[in-house]
Amino acid sequence: MNPYNLDTLNKRFGLAGILVFKIGPGGLPVVEVLNEQASAMIALQGAHLLQWSPIGEDPVIWLSPEAKFAEGKSVRGGVPVCWPWFGPHEQESGFPAHGFARTVPWEVFETNANQDGSTSIGLRLLQNEATRTQWPHASDVELYIRVGTALELDLVTRNNGSTPVSIGEALHTYFQISDIRQASVLGLNDLDYIDKVDGGERKRQEGVIAFTGETDRIYLDHGADCLIHDPGLGRRIRIHKRGSHSTVVWNPWIEKAEKMGDLGPDGYLHMLCVECANAADDVVKITPGGEHHLWMRYSVEAL
Ligand code: BG6
Repeated sequence: MNPYNLDTLNKRFGLAGILVFKIGPGGLPVVEVLNEQASAMIALQGAHLLQWSPIGEDPVIWLSPEAKFAEGKSVRGGVPVCWPWFGPHEQESGFPAHGFARTVPWEVFETNANQDGSTSIGLRLLQNEATRTQWPHASDVELYIRVGTALELDLVTRNNGSTPVSIGEALHTYFQISDIRQASVLGLNDLDYIDKVDGGERKRQEGVIAFTGETDRIYLDHGADCLIHDPGLGRRIRIHKRGSHSTVVWNPWIEKAEKMGDLGPDGYLHMLCVECANAADDVVKITPGGEHHLWMRYSVEAL
């Protein structure tokens, strides 16, 4: 059931000429932002950012041309929020991969036109019976999004219970690139990674990452900046983060993309996921009354 009333949302949180709530693709309610620095669109389901383009720049976030938009389904592209676990659930094979946060309704609780010209939105996950069954812990999760020349995302988990909780998480961002065969990722040199395409083997990264086939890796013990180098678009995307100790790099390549059915015929060429994460052994333990921030900033630099 759709818990949103657009009139009420626009009255309480709309910002004249900058931020409006409306019906977006597939009938999903979205927040649309257009300020002097950038434009963005965020679906309220999943707090799923679908688009961000600094003014005068090609879109930075990739959304599949064949993305399916439906209640309770994750959208292929944008910035899916993976929480409170990453990948398959460790014990319950029936629980959804990457957690439930990306498929349930979130509520907006604040918006702000900032003095520097950027726009902020705060969203909170709405818990329901199914989420409580899958995650029987007293905790809140919020996503703060700041739309400007840079895009900032802050995923905040609060433990309101009396025992520690452990979470896995990621902002599973799909970046738009000109051609995966010419793109590379810098900043992960000399790190160990889990190669999910090679049975979970642990390997060491030597040099930059270039792409010649399916790539699905969890880089371990990584907290520094990462750069997506894209000569075709004459730019590089800088990913700066805090509260994340692993980075996932994913491109499904041709065969897997065909099986997925929502990536488009040559979609894999134009997308690359570089995910700020706490994944695999890197889980975050939050003490009672404590909170954890998974924070990142994306910015674009000309080559
Ligand atoms: C990546 C995983 O983060 O997400 C991949 O490392 C997975 O193994 C991919 O295939 C897409 O997941 P989903 O659930 O959105 O299809």
